[in-house]
Amino acid sequence: MIIEPRMRGFICLTAHPKGCEQNVKKQIEYVKSKGPIDGAKRVLVVGASTGFGLASRISSAFGCGASTIGVFFEKPPTEGKTASPGWYNSAAFEKEAQNAGLYAKSINGDAFSKDVKQQVIDTIKADLGQIDLVIYSLASPVRMHPDTGVLHRSSLKPIGGTFTNKTVDFHTGLVSQVSIEPAVQEDIDNTVVVMGGEDWAMWMNDLKAANLLAPGATTIAYSYIGPAVTEAVYRKGTIGRAKDHLEATAFTITDSLKDINGKAFVSVNKALVTQASSAIPVIPLYISLLYKIMKANGIHEGCIEQIQRLYSQRLYTGKEVPTDSEGRIRIDDWEMRDDVQAKVAELWTKATTENLSEIGDLPGYKQDFLNLFGFGFDGVDYDAEADEMVLVSSIE
Ligand code: NAI
Repeated sequence: MIIEPRMRGFICLTAHPKGCEQNVKKQIEYVKSKGPIDGAKRVLVVGASTGFGLASRISSAFGCGASTIGVFFEKPPTEGKTASPGWYNSAAFEKEAQNAGLYAKSINGDAFSKDVKQQVIDTIKADLGQIDLVIYSLASPVRMHPDTGVLHRSSLKPIGGTFTNKTVDFHTGLVSQVSIEPAVQEDIDNTVVVMGGEDWAMWMNDLKAANLLAPGATTIAYSYIGPAVTEAVYRKGTIGRAKDHLEATAFTITDSLKDINGKAFVSVNKALVTQASSAIPVIPLYISLLYKIMKANGIHEGCIEQIQRLYSQRLYTGKEVPTDSEGRIRIDDWEMRDDVQAKVAELWTKATTENLSEIGDLPGYKQDFLNLFGFGFDGVDYDAEADEMVLVSSIE
């Protein structure tokens, strides 16, 4: 079939298998160009199909030569209907891993469920014996609690008062005011259940109980802090409470891994265009200003540059992992540089529909958004027939 982008708000209903393959290949090439990293060799990535999780899987496999097990929740294709992009990404990743002689298996299902955890446990037992690194990179709007069966929904709301600020519709470039009503306690609690650290701790407990964590095993989850302009809706909003919980959970997990000399970290990453971040009001305008400034300074990074740097300059340097006063790894250091943030704050007050194309990087935002779904890549003939029925080879 001929596959074209079909946009609906902040999602795209179609994905291009060839473009997704191109996306994965480009990330692999980048990691290889940076040279080998002396890192973990048996890696589990929960949330492995897009964004930071995919970049982590690629960095582990093609930077460290690791065997990887990837868990994700993606839609396979049906005749005449494309898969979700993470499916095609994972199909391409497995193909490249196989060509490189690297072990790679994927499990497609709900990572919050007991069933998927068991499938992962069985796979590790059968194939790898133990795991050295667990990357936890889920971004989900909902979680069915495995003990109660209750479906919790996360929300992106301010706490304590209505938040009004600028935002942009990145498809049209229209800058407008958005007002978001404050959360009630139930919204906060639900968001913490979905995006906080409880499920991360469950994964680590289950893996440890089954004796599947190697001595010195490490686990990392991803967090975000960001600037003052997004604080009310992000770090001091419902999602920020979940991130506070996730960050606190790192200490609990580290405690529980003491006897195997294991350690849990949270890495604070840079704001990037992913399916998760596009859904948050205000963030797309911030990102389009940020991209412009970081590109002008030669310090712009995508997910793969971020995670390659996390591995090579934070985790696997042969020295102690550097952390901030709260114990977090900071790979958002270039985003949070004083000069970068001062410039964003200045442009933020000026940004309008009329001047955004000049002062912000809206084309860069749109390009990244299209790329998420496998569109907008040079070297892919989008007018040609493409086979939508691409399969992930390790999934029957
Ligand atoms: P993403 O939307 O690109 O990836 C989410 C991954 O989770 C996908 O692999 C998806 O299949 C998987 N997933 C979602 N629900 C699942 C479920 N129920 N079972 C199994 N897999 C499931 O998201 P992104 O942006 O890479 O986010 C990953 C982490 O990084 C999140 O914790 C996010 O808060 C954090 N982060 C994101 C930043 C950004 O700007 N995008 C910045 C800093 C941190």
